[in-house]
Amino acid sequence: MDNRSIGIFDSGIGGLTSAAYIMEELPKERIVFFGDTARTPYGSKSPEKIRQFSMQIGQFMADNDVKMMVIACNTISATALEDLRERFPDIPIIGVISPTARVIANHCSPDAQIGIMATRATVKSGVYVQKIQEKNPALKKIYQKECQAIVPLVEEGIIGDVMDELLHFYLDDFIKEHSIDTLVLGCTHFPVVADNIHRLYPDVRLISSSREIAVAVRIELNKRGLLADRKTDENVFYASDISDSFVNMIQLILGEDRDKLNIRFKNLDL
Ligand code: DGL
Repeated sequence: MDNRSIGIFDSGIGGLTSAAYIMEELPKERIVFFGDTARTPYGSKSPEKIRQFSMQIGQFMADNDVKMMVIACNTISATALEDLRERFPDIPIIGVISPTARVIANHCSPDAQIGIMATRATVKSGVYVQKIQEKNPALKKIYQKECQAIVPLVEEGIIGDVMDELLHFYLDDFIKEHSIDTLVLGCTHFPVVADNIHRLYPDVRLISSSREIAVAVRIELNKRGLLADRKTDENVFYASDISDSFVNMIQLILGEDRDKLNIRFKNLDL
Protein backbone atom coordinates (compact mmCIF):
# COMPACT_ATOMS: atom_id res chain seq x y z
CA MET A 1 0.00 0.00 0.00
CA ASP A 2 1.26 3.45 -0.88
CA ASN A 3 -0.77 6.66 -0.60
CA ARG A 4 1.60 8.89 -2.52
CA SER A 5 0.39 10.46 -5.78
CA ILE A 6 0.41 9.16 -9.32
CA GLY A 7 2.06 11.65 -11.70
CA ILE A 8 0.30 11.88 -15.05
CA PHE A 9 1.60 14.09 -17.83
CA ASP A 10 1.16 15.16 -21.43
CA SER A 11 2.28 17.86 -23.82
CA GLY A 12 -1.01 19.63 -23.13
CA ILE A 13 -4.60 18.90 -22.23
CA GLY A 14 -4.83 15.58 -24.13
CA GLY A 15 -3.54 13.62 -21.14
CA LEU A 16 -6.63 14.68 -19.22
CA THR A 17 -8.54 12.10 -21.25
CA SER A 18 -6.32 9.42 -19.68
CA ALA A 19 -6.52 11.09 -16.26
CA ALA A 20 -10.32 10.90 -16.44
CA TYR A 21 -10.23 7.12 -17.04
CA ILE A 22 -7.60 6.63 -14.32
CA MET A 23 -9.67 8.64 -11.82
CA GLU A 24 -12.69 6.47 -12.65
CA GLU A 25 -10.72 3.21 -12.46
CA LEU A 26 -8.81 4.16 -9.28
CA PRO A 27 -10.88 6.64 -7.22
CA LYS A 28 -8.66 6.30 -4.13
CA GLU A 29 -5.55 7.46 -5.95
CA ARG A 30 -4.38 11.07 -5.73
CA ILE A 31 -3.40 12.53 -9.09
CA VAL A 32 -0.76 15.14 -9.87
CA PHE A 33 -1.28 16.14 -13.50
CA PHE A 34 1.04 18.26 -15.62
CA GLY A 35 0.16 19.55 -19.10
CA ASP A 36 2.83 21.51 -20.95
CA THR A 37 0.27 23.87 -22.47
CA ALA A 38 2.87 26.60 -23.06
CA ARG A 39 4.95 24.36 -25.34
CA THR A 40 2.36 22.09 -26.95
CA PRO A 41 2.34 20.50 -29.50
CA TYR A 42 5.23 18.10 -29.06
CA GLY A 43 4.39 15.89 -32.06
CA SER A 44 5.77 18.38 -34.57
CA LYS A 45 9.05 18.85 -32.65
CA SER A 46 12.36 17.00 -32.99
CA PRO A 47 13.03 13.91 -30.83
CA GLU A 48 15.79 15.89 -29.04
CA LYS A 49 13.36 18.64 -28.00
CA ILE A 50 10.71 16.14 -26.97
CA ARG A 51 13.29 14.32 -24.80
CA GLN A 52 14.52 17.56 -23.24
CA PHE A 53 10.98 18.69 -22.32
CA SER A 54 10.07 15.20 -21.09
CA MET A 55 13.08 15.11 -18.74
CA GLN A 56 11.99 18.43 -17.22
CA ILE A 57 8.51 17.06 -16.59
CA GLY A 58 9.97 13.83 -15.20
CA GLN A 59 12.10 15.86 -12.77
CA PHE A 60 9.05 17.85 -11.68
CA MET A 61 7.19 14.60 -10.99
CA ALA A 62 10.18 13.13 -9.12
CA ASP A 63 10.37 16.33 -7.02
CA ASN A 64 6.70 15.74 -6.17
CA ASP A 65 7.64 12.28 -4.86
CA VAL A 66 5.18 10.44 -7.11
CA LYS A 67 5.00 6.66 -6.71
CA MET A 68 4.46 6.13 -10.43
CA MET A 69 4.73 8.20 -13.61
CA VAL A 70 2.08 7.74 -16.27
CA ILE A 71 2.99 9.13 -19.66
CA ALA A 72 -0.45 10.07 -20.95
CA CYS A 73 1.09 11.08 -24.25
CA ASN A 74 1.81 8.80 -27.19
CA THR A 75 4.44 11.18 -28.54
CA ILE A 76 6.51 11.15 -25.32
CA SER A 77 5.95 7.40 -24.94
CA ALA A 78 7.25 6.84 -28.48
CA THR A 79 10.24 9.15 -28.06
CA ALA A 80 11.41 9.35 -24.45
CA LEU A 81 10.09 6.39 -22.43
CA GLU A 82 13.44 4.60 -22.20
CA ASP A 83 15.31 7.86 -21.42
CA LEU A 84 12.89 8.62 -18.60
CA ARG A 85 13.26 5.10 -17.20
CA GLU A 86 17.02 5.46 -17.30
CA ARG A 87 16.97 8.87 -15.57
CA PHE A 88 14.41 7.86 -12.90
CA PRO A 89 15.17 4.17 -12.27
CA ASP A 90 13.42 4.07 -8.87
CA ILE A 91 10.03 5.22 -10.14
CA PRO A 92 7.88 2.85 -12.21
CA ILE A 93 7.00 4.56 -15.50
CA ILE A 94 4.16 3.45 -17.77
CA GLY A 95 3.79 4.68 -21.33
CA VAL A 96 0.53 4.73 -23.23
CA ILE A 97 1.59 2.77 -26.32
CA SER A 98 2.34 -0.72 -24.92
CA PRO A 99 -1.04 -1.19 -23.18
CA THR A 100 -2.84 -0.03 -26.34
CA ALA A 101 -0.73 -2.27 -28.57
CA ARG A 102 -1.53 -5.20 -26.26
CA VAL A 103 -5.29 -4.64 -26.63
CA ILE A 104 -4.95 -4.44 -30.41
CA ALA A 105 -2.77 -7.55 -30.50
CA ASN A 106 -5.20 -9.51 -28.34
CA HIS A 107 -8.48 -8.38 -29.90
CA CYS A 108 -7.87 -7.99 -33.62
CA SER A 109 -8.12 -10.91 -36.06
CA PRO A 110 -5.37 -11.41 -38.68
CA ASP A 111 -7.60 -10.00 -41.42
CA ALA A 112 -8.22 -6.72 -39.50
CA GLN A 113 -7.35 -3.57 -41.40
CA ILE A 114 -5.86 -1.41 -38.64
CA GLY A 115 -5.35 2.34 -38.92
CA ILE A 116 -3.24 4.28 -36.40
CA MET A 117 -3.99 8.01 -36.18
CA ALA A 118 -1.16 9.77 -34.38
CA THR A 119 1.14 12.77 -34.24
CA ARG A 120 4.01 13.22 -36.67
CA ALA A 121 6.63 12.12 -34.12
CA THR A 122 4.67 9.00 -33.13
CA VAL A 123 4.14 7.97 -36.76
CA LYS A 124 7.81 8.60 -37.59
CA SER A 125 8.96 6.47 -34.65
CA GLY A 126 7.05 3.42 -35.96
CA VAL A 127 6.68 2.27 -32.34
CA TYR A 128 2.99 1.32 -32.66
CA VAL A 129 3.57 -1.02 -35.61
CA GLN A 130 6.62 -2.52 -33.93
CA LYS A 131 4.87 -3.15 -30.58
CA ILE A 132 1.70 -4.57 -32.15
CA GLN A 133 3.65 -6.97 -34.37
CA GLU A 134 5.94 -8.00 -31.50
CA LYS A 135 2.84 -9.08 -29.57
CA ASN A 136 0.95 -10.54 -32.54
CA PRO A 137 3.03 -11.14 -35.69
CA ALA A 138 -0.09 -12.31 -37.56
CA LEU A 139 -1.31 -8.71 -37.74
CA LYS A 140 0.17 -7.47 -40.99
CA LYS A 141 -2.28 -4.87 -42.22
CA ILE A 142 -1.36 -1.88 -40.08
CA TYR A 143 -1.37 1.58 -41.62
CA GLN A 144 -0.35 4.85 -40.01
CA LYS A 145 -1.75 8.32 -40.56
CA GLU A 146 -0.14 11.49 -39.27
CA CYS A 147 -2.93 13.81 -38.02
CA GLN A 148 -0.84 16.51 -36.31
CA ALA A 149 -3.12 19.52 -36.89
CA ILE A 150 -5.89 18.00 -34.78
CA VAL A 151 -3.81 18.69 -31.65
CA PRO A 152 -3.78 22.54 -31.70
CA LEU A 153 -7.46 22.61 -32.61
CA VAL A 154 -8.31 20.45 -29.62
CA GLU A 155 -6.14 22.66 -27.40
CA GLU A 156 -8.20 25.60 -28.65
CA GLY A 157 -11.47 23.77 -28.10
CA ILE A 158 -12.40 23.86 -31.80
CA ILE A 159 -14.34 20.64 -32.15
CA GLY A 160 -17.30 21.61 -34.37
CA ASP A 161 -17.57 21.90 -38.16
CA VAL A 162 -13.95 22.96 -38.64
CA MET A 163 -12.81 19.79 -36.88
CA ASP A 164 -15.11 17.71 -39.10
CA GLU A 165 -13.48 19.27 -42.17
CA LEU A 166 -10.03 18.43 -40.83
CA LEU A 167 -11.07 14.85 -40.07
CA HIS A 168 -12.40 14.49 -43.64
CA PHE A 169 -9.09 15.84 -44.92
CA TYR A 170 -7.03 13.34 -42.94
CA LEU A 171 -9.24 10.28 -42.89
CA ASP A 172 -11.54 10.01 -45.95
CA ASP A 173 -8.95 8.69 -48.38
CA PHE A 174 -6.98 6.87 -45.68
CA ILE A 175 -9.97 4.83 -44.50
CA LYS A 176 -11.15 4.14 -48.06
CA GLU A 177 -7.79 3.27 -49.56
CA HIS A 178 -6.88 0.77 -46.82
CA SER A 179 -10.45 -0.40 -46.04
CA ILE A 180 -9.77 0.47 -42.39
CA ASP A 181 -12.14 -1.34 -39.99
CA THR A 182 -10.28 -0.55 -36.74
CA LEU A 183 -8.99 2.93 -35.99
CA VAL A 184 -6.61 3.57 -33.10
CA LEU A 185 -6.74 6.99 -31.46
CA GLY A 186 -2.96 7.02 -31.02
CA CYS A 187 -2.84 10.48 -29.46
CA THR A 188 -4.48 11.35 -26.16
CA HIS A 189 -5.92 14.53 -27.66
CA PHE A 190 -8.05 12.52 -30.10
CA PRO A 191 -10.67 11.06 -27.71
CA VAL A 192 -11.96 14.63 -27.42
CA VAL A 193 -13.15 14.22 -31.04
CA ALA A 194 -14.09 10.52 -30.82
CA ASP A 195 -17.78 11.44 -31.23
CA ASN A 196 -16.97 13.38 -34.43
CA ILE A 197 -15.02 10.41 -35.80
CA HIS A 198 -17.76 7.97 -34.86
CA ARG A 199 -20.40 10.17 -36.51
CA LEU A 200 -18.35 10.52 -39.73
CA TYR A 201 -17.26 6.85 -39.92
CA PRO A 202 -19.90 4.86 -37.99
CA ASP A 203 -18.72 1.45 -39.26
CA VAL A 204 -15.16 1.85 -38.03
CA ARG A 205 -14.31 0.46 -34.58
CA LEU A 206 -12.36 2.89 -32.39
CA ILE A 207 -9.66 1.92 -29.90
CA SER A 208 -8.58 4.66 -27.50
CA SER A 209 -5.05 4.78 -26.07
CA SER A 210 -6.39 6.99 -23.24
CA ARG A 211 -8.74 4.29 -22.01
CA GLU A 212 -6.32 1.36 -22.30
CA ILE A 213 -3.66 2.90 -20.07
CA ALA A 214 -6.03 3.15 -17.07
CA VAL A 215 -6.33 -0.61 -16.70
CA ALA A 216 -2.56 -1.00 -17.13
CA VAL A 217 -1.97 1.48 -14.28
CA ARG A 218 -4.26 -0.47 -11.94
CA ILE A 219 -2.60 -3.80 -12.79
CA GLU A 220 0.92 -2.39 -12.35
CA LEU A 221 0.14 -0.66 -9.02
CA ASN A 222 -1.49 -3.84 -7.75
CA LYS A 223 1.44 -6.01 -8.87
CA ARG A 224 3.89 -3.75 -7.05
CA GLY A 225 1.74 -3.42 -3.90
CA LEU A 226 1.42 0.33 -4.50
CA LEU A 227 -2.37 0.79 -4.55
CA ALA A 228 -3.65 3.54 -2.23
CA ASP A 229 -6.17 2.67 0.47
CA ARG A 230 -7.51 6.24 0.75
CA LYS A 231 -7.14 9.60 -0.86
CA THR A 232 -4.88 11.81 1.24
CA ASP A 233 -5.40 15.09 -0.63
CA GLU A 234 -7.27 16.58 -3.58
CA ASN A 235 -6.00 16.08 -7.13
CA VAL A 236 -3.90 18.87 -8.57
CA PHE A 237 -3.72 19.93 -12.23
CA TYR A 238 -0.60 21.88 -13.23
CA ALA A 239 -0.19 23.59 -16.58
CA SER A 240 2.65 25.67 -17.94
CA ASP A 241 0.11 28.15 -19.30
CA ILE A 242 -3.38 28.58 -17.92
CA SER A 243 -5.46 30.09 -20.70
CA ASP A 244 -9.24 30.36 -20.94
CA SER A 245 -9.30 27.55 -23.48
CA PHE A 246 -7.30 25.33 -21.08
CA VAL A 247 -9.84 25.96 -18.34
CA ASN A 248 -12.75 25.34 -20.72
CA MET A 249 -11.23 22.10 -21.99
CA ILE A 250 -10.36 20.81 -18.53
CA GLN A 251 -14.00 21.36 -17.57
CA LEU A 252 -15.21 19.66 -20.75
CA ILE A 253 -12.94 16.62 -20.37
CA LEU A 254 -13.25 16.12 -16.61
CA GLY A 255 -16.84 17.34 -16.40
CA GLU A 256 -16.05 19.41 -13.30
CA ASP A 257 -16.48 23.06 -12.45
CA ARG A 258 -13.32 25.15 -12.49
CA ASP A 259 -13.94 26.14 -8.85
CA LYS A 260 -13.91 22.51 -7.81
CA LEU A 261 -10.62 21.81 -9.58
CA ASN A 262 -7.26 22.56 -8.05
CA ILE A 263 -5.57 24.18 -11.08
CA ARG A 264 -2.06 25.60 -10.67
CA PHE A 265 0.51 27.26 -12.87
CA LYS A 266 3.97 25.71 -13.19
CA ASN A 267 6.66 26.96 -15.52
CA LEU A 268 9.18 24.26 -16.43
CA ASP A 269 10.84 26.24 -19.18
CA LEU A 270 13.84 27.26 -17.11
N1 DGL B 1 -1.33 14.11 -26.60
C1 DGL B 1 -0.15 13.78 -27.27
C2 DGL B 1 -0.04 12.38 -27.77
O1 DGL B 1 -0.71 11.51 -27.23
C3 DGL B 1 0.74 14.80 -27.92
C4 DGL B 1 0.18 15.74 -28.92
C5 DGL B 1 1.22 16.76 -29.34
O2 DGL B 1 1.69 17.47 -28.47
O3 DGL B 1 1.54 16.83 -30.53
O4 DGL B 1 0.70 12.10 -28.66
